[in-house]
Amino acid sequence: MNDEARTVLTAERMEEEILRLKAERNAVILAHYYQESEIQDLADFVGDSLELSRKAASTSADVIVFCGVHFMAETAKILNPHKPVLLPDLDAGCSLSDGCPPSLFRKFREAHPEHVAVTYINCSAEVKALSDIICTSSNAERIVAQIPRDTPILFSPDKNLGAYIARKTGREMLLWNGSCIVHETFSERKLVTLQLEHPEAELIAHPECEEVILRKASFIGSTSMLLRYVQSSPRNTFIVATEAGIIHQMERTTTGKSFIPLPPDASCSCNECPHMKRNTLEKLYRCLRDMHPQIEMESALLEKARKPIDRMLSMS
Ligand code: 13P
Ligand code: SF4
Repeated sequence: MNDEARTVLTAERMEEEILRLKAERNAVILAHYYQESEIQDLADFVGDSLELSRKAASTSADVIVFCGVHFMAETAKILNPHKPVLLPDLDAGCSLSDGCPPSLFRKFREAHPEHVAVTYINCSAEVKALSDIICTSSNAERIVAQIPRDTPILFSPDKNLGAYIARKTGREMLLWNGSCIVHETFSERKLVTLQLEHPEAELIAHPECEEVILRKASFIGSTSMLLRYVQSSPRNTFIVATEAGIIHQMERTTTGKSFIPLPPDASCSCNECPHMKRNTLEKLYRCLRDMHPQIEMESALLEKARKPIDRMLSMS
Protein backbone atom coordinates (compact mmCIF):
# COMPACT_ATOMS: atom_id res chain seq x y z
CA MET A 1 0.00 0.00 0.00
CA ASN A 2 1.46 3.44 -0.90
CA ASP A 3 1.55 6.48 1.43
CA GLU A 4 -1.38 8.17 -0.27
CA ALA A 5 -3.57 5.11 0.15
CA ARG A 6 -2.59 4.93 3.83
CA THR A 7 -3.76 8.47 4.57
CA VAL A 8 -7.27 7.77 3.26
CA LEU A 9 -7.90 4.53 5.14
CA THR A 10 -11.33 4.56 6.72
CA ALA A 11 -11.66 3.36 10.32
CA GLU A 12 -13.16 0.13 8.98
CA ARG A 13 -10.25 -0.48 6.59
CA MET A 14 -7.79 0.40 9.33
CA GLU A 15 -9.37 -2.23 11.60
CA GLU A 16 -9.08 -4.82 8.82
CA GLU A 17 -5.43 -3.92 8.30
CA ILE A 18 -4.73 -4.14 12.04
CA LEU A 19 -6.22 -7.65 12.14
CA ARG A 20 -4.31 -8.69 9.01
CA LEU A 21 -0.99 -7.35 10.35
CA LYS A 22 -1.66 -8.91 13.75
CA ALA A 23 -2.08 -12.36 12.15
CA GLU A 24 0.92 -11.86 9.85
CA ARG A 25 3.20 -10.94 12.76
CA ASN A 26 1.67 -13.40 15.25
CA ALA A 27 1.04 -10.44 17.55
CA VAL A 28 -1.23 -10.13 20.57
CA ILE A 29 -3.04 -6.85 21.35
CA LEU A 30 -3.37 -6.17 25.07
CA ALA A 31 -5.49 -3.18 26.09
CA HIS A 32 -6.36 -1.41 29.31
CA TYR A 33 -9.97 -0.43 30.07
CA TYR A 34 -9.11 3.27 29.75
CA GLN A 35 -8.37 2.92 26.03
CA GLU A 36 -10.79 4.27 23.39
CA SER A 37 -13.66 1.81 22.86
CA GLU A 38 -12.62 0.96 19.27
CA ILE A 39 -9.21 -0.13 20.57
CA GLN A 40 -10.78 -2.22 23.36
CA ASP A 41 -13.02 -3.90 20.76
CA LEU A 42 -10.02 -4.91 18.60
CA ALA A 43 -7.89 -6.18 21.48
CA ASP A 44 -7.32 -9.88 22.20
CA PHE A 45 -7.48 -9.14 25.90
CA VAL A 46 -8.71 -6.16 27.94
CA GLY A 47 -7.87 -6.05 31.63
CA ASP A 48 -6.53 -4.27 34.70
CA SER A 49 -2.81 -3.83 35.39
CA LEU A 50 -2.38 -7.17 37.16
CA GLU A 51 -4.28 -9.17 34.53
CA LEU A 52 -2.38 -7.45 31.73
CA SER A 53 0.95 -8.26 33.43
CA ARG A 54 -0.12 -11.88 33.78
CA LYS A 55 -1.18 -12.04 30.12
CA ALA A 56 2.12 -10.46 29.08
CA ALA A 57 3.99 -13.06 31.16
CA SER A 58 2.13 -16.02 29.66
CA THR A 59 1.60 -15.07 26.00
CA SER A 60 2.98 -17.28 23.24
CA ALA A 61 2.69 -14.48 20.65
CA ASP A 62 5.87 -13.27 18.94
CA VAL A 63 5.00 -9.58 19.27
CA ILE A 64 3.14 -7.74 22.06
CA VAL A 65 1.20 -4.61 21.16
CA PHE A 66 0.40 -2.82 24.38
CA CYS A 67 -2.47 -0.35 24.24
CA GLY A 68 -2.03 1.38 27.56
CA VAL A 69 0.56 3.69 29.06
CA HIS A 70 4.35 3.51 29.11
CA PHE A 71 4.83 1.84 32.51
CA MET A 72 2.44 -0.96 31.46
CA ALA A 73 4.27 -1.64 28.19
CA GLU A 74 7.58 -1.45 30.05
CA THR A 75 6.32 -4.11 32.49
CA ALA A 76 5.40 -6.32 29.51
CA LYS A 77 8.95 -5.85 28.14
CA ILE A 78 10.51 -6.69 31.52
CA LEU A 79 8.50 -9.93 31.50
CA ASN A 80 9.40 -10.62 27.82
CA PRO A 81 12.91 -9.26 27.29
CA HIS A 82 13.35 -11.05 23.96
CA LYS A 83 10.07 -10.03 22.34
CA PRO A 84 9.28 -6.75 20.62
CA VAL A 85 6.79 -4.75 22.72
CA LEU A 86 5.05 -2.01 20.74
CA LEU A 87 3.34 1.00 22.32
CA PRO A 88 1.28 3.04 19.81
CA ASP A 89 2.41 6.34 21.40
CA LEU A 90 5.65 6.32 23.39
CA ASP A 91 4.63 9.57 25.13
CA ALA A 92 1.65 7.91 26.82
CA GLY A 93 2.88 8.53 30.37
CA CYS A 94 1.27 8.59 33.82
CA SER A 95 1.16 11.39 36.40
CA LEU A 96 1.98 8.94 39.20
CA SER A 97 5.08 7.70 37.42
CA ASP A 98 6.13 11.25 36.45
CA GLY A 99 5.73 12.37 40.07
CA CYS A 100 8.23 9.80 41.35
CA PRO A 101 11.65 10.46 39.77
CA PRO A 102 14.19 7.67 40.47
CA SER A 103 16.78 10.04 42.03
CA LEU A 104 14.28 11.29 44.66
CA PHE A 105 12.90 7.82 45.23
CA ARG A 106 16.44 6.56 45.88
CA LYS A 107 16.88 9.28 48.54
CA PHE A 108 13.51 8.34 50.09
CA ARG A 109 14.69 4.74 50.39
CA GLU A 110 18.11 5.73 51.72
CA ALA A 111 16.46 7.85 54.42
CA HIS A 112 14.50 4.78 55.62
CA PRO A 113 16.87 1.83 55.23
CA GLU A 114 14.93 -0.46 57.57
CA HIS A 115 11.69 -0.13 55.56
CA VAL A 116 10.42 -2.54 52.91
CA ALA A 117 9.49 -0.65 49.72
CA VAL A 118 6.11 -1.72 48.34
CA THR A 119 5.65 0.20 45.08
CA TYR A 120 2.56 0.58 42.93
CA ILE A 121 3.12 -0.66 39.38
CA ASN A 122 2.40 2.90 38.10
CA CYS A 123 6.10 3.86 38.17
CA SER A 124 9.16 3.73 35.91
CA ALA A 125 11.38 0.67 35.51
CA GLU A 126 14.13 2.56 37.40
CA VAL A 127 11.83 3.00 40.42
CA LYS A 128 10.78 -0.66 40.16
CA ALA A 129 14.45 -1.64 40.23
CA LEU A 130 14.85 0.31 43.50
CA SER A 131 11.79 -1.37 45.09
CA ASP A 132 11.32 -4.63 47.00
CA ILE A 133 7.81 -5.61 45.88
CA ILE A 134 5.52 -4.24 43.17
CA CYS A 135 1.76 -4.20 43.64
CA THR A 136 -1.32 -3.17 41.68
CA SER A 137 -4.64 -1.83 42.93
CA SER A 138 -6.08 -5.36 42.88
CA ASN A 139 -3.38 -7.08 44.99
CA ALA A 140 -1.95 -4.25 47.18
CA GLU A 141 -3.98 -5.27 50.23
CA ARG A 142 -3.02 -8.96 49.89
CA ILE A 143 0.67 -8.07 49.48
CA VAL A 144 0.85 -5.63 52.40
CA ALA A 145 -0.96 -8.18 54.60
CA GLN A 146 1.85 -10.70 53.92
CA ILE A 147 4.59 -8.41 55.24
CA PRO A 148 5.45 -9.18 58.91
CA ARG A 149 3.79 -6.65 61.22
CA ASP A 150 7.09 -5.58 62.77
CA THR A 151 8.54 -4.63 59.35
CA PRO A 152 8.00 -0.95 58.50
CA ILE A 153 6.70 -0.18 55.00
CA LEU A 154 7.30 2.60 52.45
CA PHE A 155 4.40 2.83 50.01
CA SER A 156 4.90 4.77 46.76
CA PRO A 157 3.92 6.63 44.64
CA ASP A 158 0.12 6.95 45.19
CA LYS A 159 -0.76 8.45 48.57
CA ASN A 160 -4.49 7.79 48.06
CA LEU A 161 -4.07 4.08 47.34
CA GLY A 162 -1.48 3.89 50.14
CA ALA A 163 -3.80 5.54 52.69
CA TYR A 164 -6.66 3.26 51.62
CA ILE A 165 -4.50 0.12 52.05
CA ALA A 166 -3.24 1.42 55.41
CA ARG A 167 -6.87 1.81 56.58
CA LYS A 168 -7.81 -1.67 55.26
CA THR A 169 -4.85 -3.53 56.76
CA GLY A 170 -4.42 -1.45 59.92
CA ARG A 171 -0.75 -0.94 58.96
CA GLU A 172 1.03 2.35 59.37
CA MET A 173 2.94 3.09 56.17
CA LEU A 174 5.17 5.95 55.10
CA LEU A 175 3.58 7.32 51.92
CA TRP A 176 5.18 8.98 48.90
CA ASN A 177 3.29 12.20 48.15
CA GLY A 178 1.90 11.39 44.69
CA SER A 179 -1.54 11.18 43.12
CA CYS A 180 -3.30 10.54 39.83
CA ILE A 181 -4.42 13.65 37.91
CA VAL A 182 -7.64 11.88 36.90
CA HIS A 183 -8.73 10.34 40.20
CA GLU A 184 -7.90 13.38 42.34
CA THR A 185 -10.25 15.62 40.33
CA PHE A 186 -13.57 13.98 41.19
CA SER A 187 -15.91 16.43 42.82
CA GLU A 188 -17.52 15.67 46.19
CA ARG A 189 -20.01 18.50 45.60
CA LYS A 190 -21.14 17.03 42.25
CA LEU A 191 -21.31 13.58 43.83
CA VAL A 192 -23.74 14.83 46.47
CA THR A 193 -25.92 16.42 43.74
CA LEU A 194 -25.86 13.19 41.69
CA GLN A 195 -26.79 11.10 44.73
CA LEU A 196 -29.79 13.38 45.38
CA GLU A 197 -30.87 13.04 41.74
CA HIS A 198 -30.31 9.25 41.70
CA PRO A 199 -30.94 7.99 45.24
CA GLU A 200 -31.05 4.40 43.91
CA ALA A 201 -27.52 4.61 42.47
CA GLU A 202 -24.53 2.91 44.07
CA LEU A 203 -21.18 4.71 44.11
CA ILE A 204 -18.26 2.53 43.03
CA ALA A 205 -14.71 3.89 43.12
CA HIS A 206 -11.11 3.15 42.22
CA PRO A 207 -8.75 3.31 45.25
CA GLU A 208 -6.73 6.08 43.55
CA CYS A 209 -9.63 8.44 44.47
CA GLU A 210 -9.35 10.75 47.46
CA GLU A 211 -10.68 9.65 50.83
CA VAL A 212 -13.72 12.01 50.67
CA ILE A 213 -14.96 10.00 47.66
CA LEU A 214 -13.88 6.56 48.93
CA ARG A 215 -15.68 7.12 52.25
CA LYS A 216 -19.00 7.34 50.38
CA ALA A 217 -18.43 4.35 48.06
CA SER A 218 -20.32 1.04 48.36
CA PHE A 219 -17.51 -0.76 46.57
CA ILE A 220 -13.82 0.05 46.00
CA GLY A 221 -11.57 -1.90 43.66
CA SER A 222 -9.34 -2.08 40.60
CA THR A 223 -10.91 -1.56 37.17
CA SER A 224 -11.57 -5.31 36.72
CA MET A 225 -13.01 -5.57 40.23
CA LEU A 226 -15.37 -2.65 39.50
CA LEU A 227 -16.45 -4.36 36.27
CA ARG A 228 -17.14 -7.68 38.01
CA TYR A 229 -19.03 -5.84 40.76
CA VAL A 230 -21.51 -4.17 38.39
CA GLN A 231 -21.98 -7.45 36.51
CA SER A 232 -23.04 -9.29 39.65
CA SER A 233 -24.77 -6.53 41.66
CA PRO A 234 -28.60 -6.65 41.81
CA ARG A 235 -28.58 -2.82 41.50
CA ASN A 236 -29.22 -1.17 38.14
CA THR A 237 -27.65 2.29 38.45
CA PHE A 238 -24.05 3.09 39.33
CA ILE A 239 -22.05 6.27 39.77
CA VAL A 240 -18.59 5.39 38.51
CA ALA A 241 -15.59 7.11 40.12
CA THR A 242 -12.77 6.12 37.80
CA GLU A 243 -11.64 6.92 34.27
CA ALA A 244 -14.70 6.88 32.02
CA GLY A 245 -13.23 4.34 29.54
CA ILE A 246 -14.28 1.44 31.80
CA ILE A 247 -17.94 2.29 31.14
CA HIS A 248 -17.61 0.80 27.64
CA GLN A 249 -17.09 -2.71 29.08
CA MET A 250 -19.71 -2.14 31.79
CA GLU A 251 -22.30 -1.31 29.11
CA ARG A 252 -21.14 -4.08 26.77
CA THR A 253 -21.32 -6.85 29.37
CA THR A 254 -24.54 -5.98 31.24
CA THR A 255 -28.16 -5.38 30.20
CA GLY A 256 -30.61 -2.82 31.53
CA LYS A 257 -28.01 -1.16 33.78
CA SER A 258 -26.93 2.46 33.64
CA PHE A 259 -23.59 4.00 34.49
CA ILE A 260 -23.06 7.62 35.40
CA PRO A 261 -19.47 8.86 35.21
CA LEU A 262 -18.63 10.97 38.28
CA PRO A 263 -17.72 14.44 36.93
CA PRO A 264 -14.57 16.30 37.91
CA ASP A 265 -14.64 19.60 39.82
CA ALA A 266 -13.84 21.75 36.80
CA SER A 267 -15.89 21.83 33.61
CA CYS A 268 -13.29 19.80 31.70
CA SER A 269 -13.08 16.20 30.57
CA CYS A 270 -10.50 15.55 33.32
CA ASN A 271 -12.10 12.19 34.11
CA GLU A 272 -10.44 10.97 30.90
CA CYS A 273 -6.78 10.06 31.20
CA PRO A 274 -4.94 12.24 28.65
CA HIS A 275 -2.05 9.76 28.59
CA MET A 276 -4.20 6.72 27.85
CA LYS A 277 -6.05 8.67 25.19
CA ARG A 278 -2.82 9.42 23.28
CA ASN A 279 -3.17 5.97 21.70
CA THR A 280 -5.49 6.03 18.69
CA LEU A 281 -6.63 3.46 16.15
CA GLU A 282 -4.37 5.05 13.55
CA LYS A 283 -1.32 4.92 15.84
CA LEU A 284 -2.14 1.29 16.61
CA TYR A 285 -2.28 0.53 12.90
CA ARG A 286 0.97 2.38 12.20
CA CYS A 287 2.92 0.72 15.01
CA LEU A 288 1.92 -2.75 13.79
CA ARG A 289 2.78 -1.78 10.22
CA ASP A 290 6.16 -0.24 11.05
CA MET A 291 7.04 -2.34 14.15
CA HIS A 292 7.72 1.02 15.79
CA PRO A 293 7.65 2.58 18.39
CA GLN A 294 9.01 -0.19 20.59
CA ILE A 295 10.02 -0.28 24.25
CA GLU A 296 13.82 -0.41 24.49
CA MET A 297 15.57 -1.10 27.79
CA GLU A 298 19.08 -1.84 29.05
CA SER A 299 19.35 -5.49 30.06
CA ALA A 300 20.81 -4.63 33.52
CA LEU A 301 17.79 -2.45 34.32
CA LEU A 302 15.45 -5.07 32.94
CA GLU A 303 16.87 -7.74 35.24
CA LYS A 304 16.77 -5.50 38.33
CA ALA A 305 13.20 -4.37 37.66
CA ARG A 306 12.04 -7.95 37.13
CA LYS A 307 12.75 -9.17 40.68
CA PRO A 308 10.09 -7.08 42.49
CA ILE A 309 7.58 -7.86 39.72
CA ASP A 310 8.23 -11.61 40.08
CA ARG A 311 7.78 -11.21 43.85
CA MET A 312 4.40 -9.59 43.21
CA LEU A 313 3.31 -12.34 40.83
CA SER A 314 4.22 -15.05 43.33
CA MET A 315 2.55 -13.24 46.26
CA SER A 316 -0.79 -12.60 44.47
P1 13P B 1 -6.05 -0.85 37.38
O1 13P B 1 -4.91 -1.74 37.70
O2 13P B 1 -7.14 -0.86 38.40
O3 13P B 1 -6.57 -1.13 36.00
O4 13P B 1 -5.53 0.67 37.40
C1 13P B 1 -4.63 1.19 36.49
C2 13P B 1 -4.59 2.65 36.53
O5 13P B 1 -3.75 3.28 35.95
C3 13P B 1 -5.63 3.33 37.27
O6 13P B 1 -5.52 4.69 37.05
FE1 SF4 C 1 -1.74 7.23 35.47
FE2 SF4 C 1 -4.00 8.23 36.42
FE3 SF4 C 1 -3.77 7.81 33.81
FE4 SF4 C 1 -3.98 5.73 35.52
S1 SF4 C 1 -5.54 7.29 35.08
S2 SF4 C 1 -2.53 5.92 33.82
S3 SF4 C 1 -2.85 6.54 37.28
S4 SF4 C 1 -2.57 9.27 35.03
